[in-house]
Amino acid sequence: MGGGWPLTMGRGVAKDSLVPAGGGAGRVDNSSLEAGMADGAIVAGERVLITGGAGFIGTSLARRLLEENEVVVFDNFHRDALSRSGLRGHRNLRVIEGDVLDAAAVASAMDSVTMVVHLAAVAGVDTVIKQPTRTMRVNIIGTYHVLEAAIAHGKLKRFIDFSTSEVFGTHAYNASEGEATVLGAVGEARWTYAVSKLATEHMALTYWKEFDLPALSIRPFNIYGPGQVGEGAIHHFIVRALDGRPLEVHNDGSQIRAWCYVDDIVEGICLALSSPDAPGHAFNIGNPRSTLTIYNLAREIIELAGSDSQIVFVPWNFPDVELRIPNIDKARRILGYEPRVDLEDGLARTIAWYRAQRESGRREQ
Ligand SMILES: NC(=O)c1ccc[n+]([C@@H]2O[C@H](COP(=O)([O-])OP(=O)(O)OC[C@H]3O[C@@H](n4cnc5c(N)ncnc54)[C@H](O)[C@@H]3O)[C@@H](O)[C@H]2O)c1
Repeated sequence: MGGGWPLTMGRGVAKDSLVPAGGGAGRVDNSSLEAGMADGAIVAGERVLITGGAGFIGTSLARRLLEENEVVVFDNFHRDALSRSGLRGHRNLRVIEGDVLDAAAVASAMDSVTMVVHLAAVAGVDTVIKQPTRTMRVNIIGTYHVLEAAIAHGKLKRFIDFSTSEVFGTHAYNASEGEATVLGAVGEARWTYAVSKLATEHMALTYWKEFDLPALSIRPFNIYGPGQVGEGAIHHFIVRALDGRPLEVHNDGSQIRAWCYVDDIVEGICLALSSPDAPGHAFNIGNPRSTLTIYNLAREIIELAGSDSQIVFVPWNFPDVELRIPNIDKARRILGYEPRVDLEDGLARTIAWYRAQRESGRREQ
């Protein structure tokens, strides 16, 4: 899949120009970045492998990186946000259809890249509950393959592993990275995801310690925004609100989440790629300001979408996360990360995107 390597590199930027950003002495002039990304991290002149790059976050990250870097997307297209992104055919994009369970394919995709963002995973609570064994295989064995290829490569400047806020268990208020993680009850399929992701965090950090791989982990807290595929409450609510269908809220809707707009996590990833102090850490990336109950989220979306939809409460007999709000002080301190898009603004942008998709005939499910 995909074409040969493009010959262009990002606008004459030096290959080694990793510029720390986001505060103190590392703050830089970012006037070359797109409007709205003032003060954003600069990653330029790199060749970045994004496993899972056809997914929601991966496609948004590819969009951000493509003008100034070459990007290799490696994905089995279990989910696909890339194909409708308009990025296919970009001169700096190479797409490889492959599976992280195929060690040889992973090693070959890593050939001559300078950085790796490992997003490929089985994610989404409904999928995880239906496929717990596949979740553990892909997330643990797949990550093992990517890490082994990374140390065989030997010259990577950065390796980002993707963990999850689920490692904090069912109640996490102002949760910071140093707190104990929670594994959940054995036999509950939902927790296979958190356990698998926690294993990848341990692996990434031990590969950093033992093999000098410049690795770190990111724990995303409830990401939403344009281009989301698969699952997620905001995706579900907006699609139904625009259709005038009922919005289904699990149990009484009192679960509390902090929602992070996709541009903010993309910025967090770019900071983690460019900050010299990032390796050897795990970082919470989220937006603690954008916190509300699931019921209030549904109401807010109905109002912002101008919808007549009703809210219905459906029983959900699986363990759920009742409270999840990150502490992001460590990411602020080390990366200079600061979420910028508040919930109302982010929801309005997201609703506008879904509405435009509908008008162009691409209806989400
Ligand atoms: N979106 C969130 O709120 C959130 C929260 C916590 C963690 N994460 C993590 O962030 C990463 C990206 O999440 P996302 O929301 O973009 O999910 P996504 O499902 O949209 O993207 C994951 C991508 O991985 C690909 N993939 C799955 N199995 C694969 C395999 N065996 N080989 C190759 N590719 C495979 C899928 O096709 C998909 O394109 C994942 O690791 C996820 O666990 C996301």
